[in-house]
Amino acid sequence: MTLNPLKEKGIPVEKQLRSWHEIARKPFNKTEIDCYSRTRQILMNGIEVEAWNFKHNFSRNCTDTEVNKFIAQTRRIEDMQQTTVNWLTPADQSVLETTLGYEQVAVDLTAWMAQNEPDPYVKETFDFGLLEDFDHLYRYSQWAYFEHGISPNDIVQGQTDIMLSRPTQNHHNDNRLRLRKPYDKAAAAPQTKVNIYTLVAGEQQTHNYYAEHGMEYGNQCIRETYAEIKDVEEEHVSMYESLIDPTESWFEKLLLHEFVEVCTYYNCMVDEENERLKKIWQMFMEYEIGHLQIAAELFKKHEKRDPEEVIGTQIVLPCRFVSQKPYVTNILENEIHKRLDTEMGYTTIDKLPENWPSYDVQKKVGEEGSPTEMVIQVMAAAKGRDLVVADKKLKKKEAELLQKGLEPEAQAPDTVSVEQMTEMMAEEEIEHECD
Ligand SMILES: [Fe+2]
Ligand SMILES: [Fe+2]
Ligand SMILES: [Fe+2]
Ligand SMILES: [Fe+2]
Repeated sequence: MTLNPLKEKGIPVEKQLRSWHEIARKPFNKTEIDCYSRTRQILMNGIEVEAWNFKHNFSRNCTDTEVNKFIAQTRRIEDMQQTTVNWLTPADQSVLETTLGYEQVAVDLTAWMAQNEPDPYVKETFDFGLLEDFDHLYRYSQWAYFEHGISPNDIVQGQTDIMLSRPTQNHHNDNRLRLRKPYDKAAAAPQTKVNIYTLVAGEQQTHNYYAEHGMEYGNQCIRETYAEIKDVEEEHVSMYESLIDPTESWFEKLLLHEFVEVCTYYNCMVDEENERLKKIWQMFMEYEIGHLQIAAELFKKHEKRDPEEVIGTQIVLPCRFVSQKPYVTNILENEIHKRLDTEMGYTTIDKLPENWPSYDVQKKVGEEGSPTEMVIQVMAAAKGRDLVVADKKLKKKEAELLQKGLEPEAQAPDTVSVEQMTEMMAEEEIEHECD
């Protein structure tokens, strides 16, 4: 089904105010919700936070009263939408359970985008980031099991593997190396723009969630794990946002933000099986069509250009959540040893020069140990080994993957070595205890 959102009616902005009762709705049940309903809910919260934040920045840079009035009016609606979406989270869903949801979003969303991305350089960047969030899911899963005694698979529901990847201690780069080459706004496909804007919103919200919740644990090692992974999410925001053409005007960016909201809600609506959530996605898609129409009018008036030049004539699908295990396994086996070079491209561990700028960062932040290594040491001491959820064939490759993906330089003192991983793999698996 194709739809040109510029030609749809939508719901006018004047009709988008709702009562508090309608805004703060009943949360979902964490034991009954489908994992991909939860990932949609997590992603759409990030999309709304970004829409709200962007509009504040636009206002602070805009002298036109008429434009500021539009922005003020819809910004409040974005904020009310954010409340509705985020507050579907039930009070009994722990921070670590929600965290596993955030990393499942990152893995399965990025994998979907990589396979639907027309620009090969952007795709390569998605694949690179994908492996890092995949490792975060594995590290946090250990804590979810150890601290709360839950099976992380109850959250990911067998749709996403839980397995080591490029070790998190190797994700710490000189942040300048994260900067990518931007797309050309005149040549890039709307799918590319929507993919990147969507992912930036998701990564930014992941960063913010860890920043605001990691300290809610008393366990110092968990606090440091959040500090460590939060910092990687900062690198991810830096990496993905740098793909956006910085010469896009404020009006062009406004148009793209509303288009992204229409596309993501549309995608959620067509895929959602939970009737209550589906109605929310549909209503908010219609709200966003209302926002888009005003953004399109402003764009025409101020830029004297046709909005279709920027967003095309049909909706794109940026966030189809489906299991991506074979795709992720393939990237894991073939790209775990990839690293950022100093020319906005990629290289591999064996080709890194001695003066690779990220070594300095890794040596400093990991000098007293890496919390994401320590969690595996904690699991090894308590249970004999780490917790992995994957098919037998992939599980058997854990030590081999570590050998390929771990930098020999700049290792934290508590690094889990390949030998130690090999010994751990001989121990009895633990995930069946959770069933
Ligand atoms: Fe919105
Ligand atoms: Fe992550
Ligand atoms: Fe990330
Ligand atoms: Fe909007």
